[in-house]
Amino acid sequence: MTRDLDPATRLIHAKPPGARVVRTVGPPILRGSTVLLDTAAEFYDDSILTYGRSGLTTHDALTSALAELEGASSVSLFPSGLAAVTAAMTAVLKAGDEILVMDAIYKPTRRFCDNVLTRFGVGVRYHPANLTAPEILARAGTNTRLIVMESPGSLTMEMQDVPGVANLAREKGILTLADNTWAAGSLFKPLAHGVDISVQSLTKYVCGHSDVFMGSAATRDPAIGKALQDAVRDFGWSVSPDDAYQMLRGLRTLSARLDRHGASSLEVATWLAGHSAVAEVLHPALPGAPGHEIWARDYDGAAGLFAIVLRPASPKAVAAFLDALQLFGLGFSWGGFESLALNGDPQLGSRDHDTPRAGPIIRLNIGLEAPKDLIADLDQALAVFS
Ligand SMILES: Cc1ncc(COP(=O)(O)O)c(C=O)c1O
Repeated sequence: MTRDLDPATRLIHAKPPGARVVRTVGPPILRGSTVLLDTAAEFYDDSILTYGRSGLTTHDALTSALAELEGASSVSLFPSGLAAVTAAMTAVLKAGDEILVMDAIYKPTRRFCDNVLTRFGVGVRYHPANLTAPEILARAGTNTRLIVMESPGSLTMEMQDVPGVANLAREKGILTLADNTWAAGSLFKPLAHGVDISVQSLTKYVCGHSDVFMGSAATRDPAIGKALQDAVRDFGWSVSPDDAYQMLRGLRTLSARLDRHGASSLEVATWLAGHSAVAEVLHPALPGAPGHEIWARDYDGAAGLFAIVLRPASPKAVAAFLDALQLFGLGFSWGGFESLALNGDPQLGSRDHDTPRAGPIIRLNIGLEAPKDLIADLDQALAVFS
């Protein structure tokens, strides 16, 4: 059959020599939409993988490592952290259900709840970020199916009693979901504390280099694990094997990077707490800061993201401070090796229960630079602000 083949056909069917496949430290990056089957009998065999969208070797290597990190029995991958949060919600909700959502939730998550879930007949109610677990559960009604948490809260860094909520919710047959991106699946373990679905944006600390999007949803419950996998399949989600490889690479150095992010953020936060231009430091790992008791009880370490409340000032003065920063980039997102700053106030208007603060709120992502250099940068920029 090989003799008289056209050059184009030869090119398509050229096979690599039967060389030994060497073992590398990382898994092979297996690319493929088409999966070749050995026999025709395999076409409709549900027990074998027949199409690449559901993930190949590289994805399996990543989900196994994430299952180890999260203490999960199954992990599903999504093309972004937001996709992981929204898909996890749709995986367990149906029309007529209601969800309770912490008010300081990541704003795009809120947008999904308001714009999509409500259109599909799911009721959404927001509660203040500082409620206790019994206070949250007291708000649950007969249709409440899911409680959505994110601790610390987006921008304003409120800590929630995630274990308390998870345990009380379980008693009432209500599911819980925690966006655990701040803890990177490492500093806090939602599943070990009774949460049903632990979600994180891998885009942040797991990637660590601000250049790949992905999200994960992890669970210990086989039925929820299947619902998450069905969501991946039914919505047609797929992540590239090259991106999965990058995330796996990030995971290998996650704990060393987190140690450095955490120590540096505490050094910078401590310095800021003593600065006259700063009214309040919102860093749960800082003794005396709001939510510190919960952090000390539940967490094994600090991350690099926190916020400061400046003394009252005009938007122009806040912009002058941000523009004066030289080492801190101005940008959304966080978790990467580079320090970033952002003005949070314009995002807070959409909340139902926001508490008044002394002044403008600035979120800082502390990267892997030397803390003394970051402090010097903040010092000169705060001099412009003052
Ligand atoms: C807490 C939290 N969850 C989810 C996301 C969304 O992640 P991604 O950018 O990967 O969609 C973000 C992004 O900033 C976030 O801060």
